[in-house]
Amino acid sequence: MANVVAFGLQWGDEGKGKVIDLLSEFADIIVRYQGGANAGHTIVVGEQKVVLHLIPSGILHSGKLCVIGNGVVVDPSVLVSEMEELKKLGYIGDDRRLKLSAFAHLIMPYHKKLDLYRESAATGRKIGTTGRGIGPAYEDKASRLGIRVIDLLDKKLFAEKVRENLKIKNFLIKRYYKAEALRAREVIKEYDGYRKVLKKYVADTPYLIQEGVRKKKNILFEGAQGTYLDIDHGTYPYATSSNTIAGNAACGAGVPPTAIDRILGICKAYTTRVGEGPFPTELTGAEGELIRQKGGEFGATTGRPRRCGWFDAVIVKRAVALNGLSGLAVMKLDVLDEFETLEICVQYKLGRKLSTQPPVSLKGWETCEPVYERVPGWKTSTKGITRFEDLPLNARKYMQRLEELAGVPIDIISTGAERTDTIILRNPFASKG
Ligand code: GDP
Ligand code: IMO
Ligand code: MG
Repeated sequence: MANVVAFGLQWGDEGKGKVIDLLSEFADIIVRYQGGANAGHTIVVGEQKVVLHLIPSGILHSGKLCVIGNGVVVDPSVLVSEMEELKKLGYIGDDRRLKLSAFAHLIMPYHKKLDLYRESAATGRKIGTTGRGIGPAYEDKASRLGIRVIDLLDKKLFAEKVRENLKIKNFLIKRYYKAEALRAREVIKEYDGYRKVLKKYVADTPYLIQEGVRKKKNILFEGAQGTYLDIDHGTYPYATSSNTIAGNAACGAGVPPTAIDRILGICKAYTTRVGEGPFPTELTGAEGELIRQKGGEFGATTGRPRRCGWFDAVIVKRAVALNGLSGLAVMKLDVLDEFETLEICVQYKLGRKLSTQPPVSLKGWETCEPVYERVPGWKTSTKGITRFEDLPLNARKYMQRLEELAGVPIDIISTGAERTDTIILRNPFASKG
């Protein structure tokens, strides 16, 4: 058996929630390792649709240990309501199944305010963030001003840290953004409530996961966002504030890189992006609209319409190398069922130069043009197909072409939102490699 990282290869929303839920059956421990409530991971089981922002997508399976890792920035208000929601639906029967890292940083009310003020039209560049306070929280972590979950457990220390932080934050809020200051007393009182609820879940999670490694448990590491939203490797500054790539699973969970056996990269059979920033294969006309409607491409966190476009093999191929993929999961094949022809971007044209590598500069990203390969569609429903040989010939050819361009085998093909709408060609937990 094996330890597996499952994460996004594009600009997020690839269908990670579905894959992680599916693979959780084979895992003992499921760990989220970065990001925060900017993520929206959707799981569909029968008539039920669950969207998770912080709790690992393994939580719908009983008997699994779900861990919010040290690399996550945790908004306790979101976490508490997510827990309540799940309990109402009959999940998290046993509270010992959920662990919150003592090392994780907290999202504070001023992080959310600062995120929103910065994004408001009056001030600077708009990234199109989710407004969940992610950037400001990671900034505080890096500048050593952050407040960690362990600090929340120490009432006195927590109050001191809030007061200390608010001195600076309120200066910015009042003087620069001309908005209303936050009151320390109110923040402390609100977080007192979260302490009471969350206390029993707090743990030294790196130790816990290392124990799992030692006992040869199967561990599934759950990524959020996607490779091109990575703070180092994404379309900076149109990126999120964490490292989203597989390499960060070890750091964000607290295990050595040698504990990881397989790397499963998740992509859609086309491409989407939500928020601002370059997107070379974006379709702004009727074809993009067809994908959006058929694929239900509206943000799981903010409800914003997602920008849609053709499959981009240039970004996926680089993501394969960057993350060291052992296999691919290609999602939402059924969304392409109605197209007469499809296009696959195989190169970028930058001025007169052709390249199979994405540009480095933002200007390059914004001006490069996709070079397409045209392939025939299949015009037949693939919804719910579970065997590769049952796919229409042109859909099989499309999958084979994507595999060839990516240079790694496809492990999973998804043909619908439900668990059962899946073709499993190779289970990443089945063997080490
Ligand atoms: P995540 O953030 O990567 O977990 O992805 P999201 O949950 O934000 O977005 C993926 C959406 O596609 C969700 O609504 C899923 O239910 C849905 N989905 C996942 N796989 C498939 C599929 O193969 N076909 C279709 N039609 N929908 C899918
Ligand atoms: P999942 O895990 C898609 C995008 C935002 C914005 C940029 C920065 O569901 O795939 P942030 O709030 O992180 O500072 O926003 O990143 N973004 C996502 N896009 N899926 C996500 O998560 C995202 N999380 C952040 O839209 O462009
Ligand atoms: Mg999402």
